[in-house]
Amino acid sequence: MNERRHIRERVESLRKTLNYHNYRYYVLDAPEISDEQYDRLLEELRQLEHENPDLITSDSPTQRVGAAPVETFGVIEHRVPLLSLSNAFTADELRAWWKRTSDHLGTSEFATVCEPKIDGLAVALTYINGRLSTGATRGDGFRGEDITQNLRTVRSIPLSVSGGAPPRFEVRGEVYLPKSGFKKLNERRAAQGLPLFANPRNAASGSVRQLDPAITAERPLDIIVYGLGWAEGTSLPSTHWEMMKVLRSLGFKTNPLITLASSLEEAQRVYDRWVQQRDDWRFESDGMVVKVDSLRMQDELGSVGREPRWAIAFKFPAVQGTTKLKDIGINVGRTGSLNPYAILEPVQVGGVVISRAALHNEEDIHRKDIRIGDTVIIQRAGDVIPEIVGPVTSLRTGEEREFSMPMSCPVCGSDVQKPESEAVHRCTNAACPAQALERIKHFTGRDAMDIDGLGEKLCAALFSAELIKDVADIYYLTKQDLLKLDRMAEKSAANIISAIRSSKERPLSRLIFALGIPHVGQEYAELLARRYESIDSLAAASTEELASLHSIGPKIAESIVAFFGQSRNLEIMQKLRQAGVRLSRHRDAASPVKTQSLDGLTFVFTGKMERFSRPEAEARVRELGGRVTQDVSRRVSYLVMGDEPGSKASRARELGVSVIDEAEFLRLLGDG
Ligand code: IVH
Repeated sequence: MNERRHIRERVESLRKTLNYHNYRYYVLDAPEISDEQYDRLLEELRQLEHENPDLITSDSPTQRVGAAPVETFGVIEHRVPLLSLSNAFTADELRAWWKRTSDHLGTSEFATVCEPKIDGLAVALTYINGRLSTGATRGDGFRGEDITQNLRTVRSIPLSVSGGAPPRFEVRGEVYLPKSGFKKLNERRAAQGLPLFANPRNAASGSVRQLDPAITAERPLDIIVYGLGWAEGTSLPSTHWEMMKVLRSLGFKTNPLITLASSLEEAQRVYDRWVQQRDDWRFESDGMVVKVDSLRMQDELGSVGREPRWAIAFKFPAVQGTTKLKDIGINVGRTGSLNPYAILEPVQVGGVVISRAALHNEEDIHRKDIRIGDTVIIQRAGDVIPEIVGPVTSLRTGEEREFSMPMSCPVCGSDVQKPESEAVHRCTNAACPAQALERIKHFTGRDAMDIDGLGEKLCAALFSAELIKDVADIYYLTKQDLLKLDRMAEKSAANIISAIRSSKERPLSRLIFALGIPHVGQEYAELLARRYESIDSLAAASTEELASLHSIGPKIAESIVAFFGQSRNLEIMQKLRQAGVRLSRHRDAASPVKTQSLDGLTFVFTGKMERFSRPEAEARVRELGGRVTQDVSRRVSYLVMGDEPGSKASRARELGVSVIDEAEFLRLLGDG
């Protein structure tokens, strides 16, 4: 029987280890072992349990997935109802709530806890003797659905909690789908021809309310716990803040962003900051919940109907709105692509008036069944171009018109073609003026030659005044030329000329990108600049040679060869050379040396820095030839983490991107 004891001990030890690593990975976002190592341990446990089924317990890490599908969900009565929150939409409304609360309490001396309001769905989890016993939806607040088997598949929900927990208690939190998971899920659904989810909340709710837990298990659901429902048999802390600490110590995932605020002004400051930062959060959030911290005060305040007086949701400016799609316009891009865009009845979304939105291509318009005249849902996220989510089909009158791409270019009238393998329609006229102008705009842009002051409007003005016809003409502009334009001041003209001059020294990678060779984006431009030392050597490369480069496919190789095969493009290179634009990796000994120490490196910033504002830090990186992006991906070289970082830090660690602090960043800049 010694053997038996040995097995039992091994099983227990494996469970403990697996639970610990599960917690490191899913709750703390700080794994200590690799996925393979984890899987190996899990497999060993599975094997032992298979051979000794009597040792299986409900909280074993092997038991997350595996329950059979059900016909319907059972009902769970909530012992303490799940309340909802009243809303404040303006600073005045928050102030009014603050005043009511102080009046009610008879003091203005109270602290609050500010928390992001997570856009997911509320769940109540009951633990009995340390083990997850039931998990329920909110339902009508009094009775919810029993979704225990589905919630067990959410890896950040502990199946058992450490010692020291009350014998029976219920925690409450929000189950949600991270933005990245939502995007992937919809991409997968699009590929399978399934209807898309309108937003992460619908996707989360659809995922959790699956009758088959195996489907729920495939969705990357997460939880953030925001409170205690009830507890038996222990004395509890006296504040919400302390309570959250206790829940965290029991192994629940709480929100690291929660912040104490002891005055209205402090709460307002937290809100202002979050409005700026929330695009970086991993979850969707539509507001900030403000909760009175003292639990005694919460009791004293009580609730009106289903809404507690002790909390309020201060909504963030809406990012979705509805409006009418008046028409669909067409822009001709620099590669001749016909890009449809939505012309909208102007509408306020998140404090910004929107009258245009992106519509990617014809297929996309048809897939979403968007028709001219439709009432459409539009969505704005941060600074990105607003997008159309879809039509509100219930509001159709029958007057709506389906859209189809024109057969001739709206700018030059030439034929339009759509290659079988692509989703875009293209104008076939390489000399189409729309293309020429777009190429110029692209060339001067921030990620390309970065000519300060020569923005899209000015490019268009210079182009229509026929002062420039191609990108090389920019380097032959004089101050007198610029002064011919309306409202051009002496000083700005001088600045622009000087910006044009300094752009002559940009690194080769930028020039390659700026030329706008179809399919050659920034990443490929960098790769080519590392492989070829000048435009001339790149222009001389054959398709085979290019295609043999790692990660350059035949399509890109052909596109490069075709570009340099056009005499018009070779003339442009010649004009650039004569104007003194650097066309090679190395500078002539004579030209001034400007260090480009960050060339080829990509940075993402998160959190606040001491020495720099975000735009300053980004400008420094660009000055030294580096790049800045918003999203963490494997291609990012460094994530610079300031104070109160967002979710990017953990994403970076997941992907193995180097995470550095401000001091290290300064060293890279050469300032440290
Ligand atoms: S507190 C009174 N805190 O918002 C207590 N709720 O409109 C209400 N929610 O049903 C819950 N994040 O689903 C609270 N940090 C948070 C929250 C949060 C999201 C949801 C929750 C609730 C709804 C109330």
